[in-house]
Amino acid sequence: MSRCLVTGAAGFIGSHLSEALLAKGHEVVAIDAFIPYYPRPIKERNLEKARASGRYQFHELDLREAAFAHLVEGCDVIFHEAAMAGLMKSWSDFDLYASCNMIATKRLLEAARDAKVPQVIHISTSSVYGKEATGPEDSPLTPFSPYGITKVAAENLCRAFQANFGVPVTILRYFSVYGPRQRPDMAYNILIRNLFKGESFTLYGDGEQTRSNTFVADCVNATILAYEKRSAALGEVFNIGGGEIVTLNQVIRTLEEITGKKARIERKPPRPGDQKHTAADIQKATRILGYRPMTRVLDGLKAQVDWEKTVL
Ligand SMILES: NC(=O)c1ccc[n+]([C@@H]2O[C@H](COP(=O)([O-])OP(=O)(O)OC[C@H]3O[C@@H](n4cnc5c(N)ncnc54)[C@H](O)[C@@H]3O)[C@@H](O)[C@H]2O)c1
Repeated sequence: MSRCLVTGAAGFIGSHLSEALLAKGHEVVAIDAFIPYYPRPIKERNLEKARASGRYQFHELDLREAAFAHLVEGCDVIFHEAAMAGLMKSWSDFDLYASCNMIATKRLLEAARDAKVPQVIHISTSSVYGKEATGPEDSPLTPFSPYGITKVAAENLCRAFQANFGVPVTILRYFSVYGPRQRPDMAYNILIRNLFKGESFTLYGDGEQTRSNTFVADCVNATILAYEKRSAALGEVFNIGGGEIVTLNQVIRTLEEITGKKARIERKPPRPGDQKHTAADIQKATRILGYRPMTRVLDGLKAQVDWEKTVL
């Protein structure tokens, strides 16, 4: 049994990761500040299952200012999921993105260094690549949004702590994650809700933008593999994506078929910062971590629709 620290544990991916670690018999020390980017009750609901476990402890604290060194002490691994995610609000709330993604990460790395934690798994994003995210991990990082810029800075903090103090870091760049509990600001969540409510969906661009969607269980599996294959993963960066590439137009048609409802689409021009094409090159994660995405987009979308029905 390992003692795992999960930051951002009340969020979409952090809550699934915590449950998966508990299911594997690990102990989870969970941290979240309930940043009101989306409503607290949604995050409280995310926590319900994990909180029922005797091997789970939850701490409400803000990594930007709270004292948390005592929680890091004795951990075998840190999974750093906490961040301000979603790129649109990063244009207007830049201070919040800069502090949650950079200051919080720096404080966590300091604590990991002082406690000599054997591995920090830092969660990054395809947004570090920029408008197109289609190449391998050593592709140039030319972020196209303030969000992407703060996430590049967070990666660079990891690299600086690794180079100067030997903090053992693995960086995972997730590509568009979807499935049950998806954040309410994300397109598929909005689209499914609007389909059920008969409301119109704002489609930015022509709908031909492609995405390498990653079903949340696959993303969590890759994240845990980065810990289980620790000796090969230390100091490395991995793209983590799904196996299929789909356009938004294809997803709209698939969701119409699954729900039996017709989408009402309102078209608008692309927004500043929007990525055009993402196609995760996951060859490195497959080769070194043994990662293989298992969920087909059709099945993943069905699972998300089933979940949305329970929370509408
Ligand atoms: N969802 C995706 O498609 C996606 C894609 C690429 C990368 N990511 C990355 O995955 C991670 C998780 O994303 P998510 O979609 O689950 O987001 P989320 O918003 O659901 O979860 C993030 C959690 O972090 C917490 N948090 C933020 N700042 C904090 C702080 N200062 N102290 C303590 N807690 C804090 C928030 O309260 C929130 O509950 C993020 O690092 C994000 O950048 C997500």
